[in-house]
Amino acid sequence: MKEGNTREEHDFNPKDFEPGRIHRIGKRHTMFGSDMTPAIALWNPKYPHNVGAAVRAASCFGAKAVIFSGNRIPTDGGDNKKYRLPREERMKGYHDVTIINDDYFFNRFDENVIPVAVEVRQNSESLPLFVHPEKPLYVFGPEDGSLPQTVLRHCQRFVVIPSKHCLNLGNAVNVILYDRIYKMGIISGDHIG
Ligand SMILES: C[S@@+](CC[C@H](N)C(=O)[O-])C[C@H]1O[C@@H](n2cnc3c(N)ncnc32)[C@H](O)[C@@H]1O
Repeated sequence: MKEGNTREEHDFNPKDFEPGRIHRIGKRHTMFGSDMTPAIALWNPKYPHNVGAAVRAASCFGAKAVIFSGNRIPTDGGDNKKYRLPREERMKGYHDVTIINDDYFFNRFDENVIPVAVEVRQNSESLPLFVHPEKPLYVFGPEDGSLPQTVLRHCQRFVVIPSKHCLNLGNAVNVILYDRIYKMGIISGDHIG
């Protein structure tokens, strides 16, 4: 990847990844291994602070990647400056999370990875009873909408967090990831993964 041009598309190579930086990749060729799971996908998010909160949640609870689609989150800072997430979400401790801007994330994973739509929908499984897949890709909708049919069509599981009101996007990511590790019986951060 060329320095200072985060909009340039390129083939996936784990060596390209620079901690804390948003990477944008091209439509073709790139595949993520299933070791990239658990992963979080945010469909067309609106606010950088929610992407940042998802990165933070991912690092706290052992998710490997936060992938977001769309162009509402700046991925370059202008004047060839690299865009980075808000300062708090750039802490060194979160550098174990790969951050990718990609509109084709469903095509990147093999069939062992199960896309899970996290959305308020009738007939979704309720989170307390939900058994998490071994290699999940959790897919979340935007702050100002919900997951469209074109996205839901790719998902194999559907889960809703029973809550009185819709949660903030970042909070929804935290709840899902915490539920996953809680059900795995993991209480020590040393064993997250
Ligand atoms: C803030 S919500 C979207 C706003 C919502 N469509 C509304 O009525 O204003 C953003 C995303 O968080 C997730 N989310 C929030 N609360 C949820 C819940 N109770 N169950 C499942 N997903 C939830 C979904 O992925 C949703 O698309």
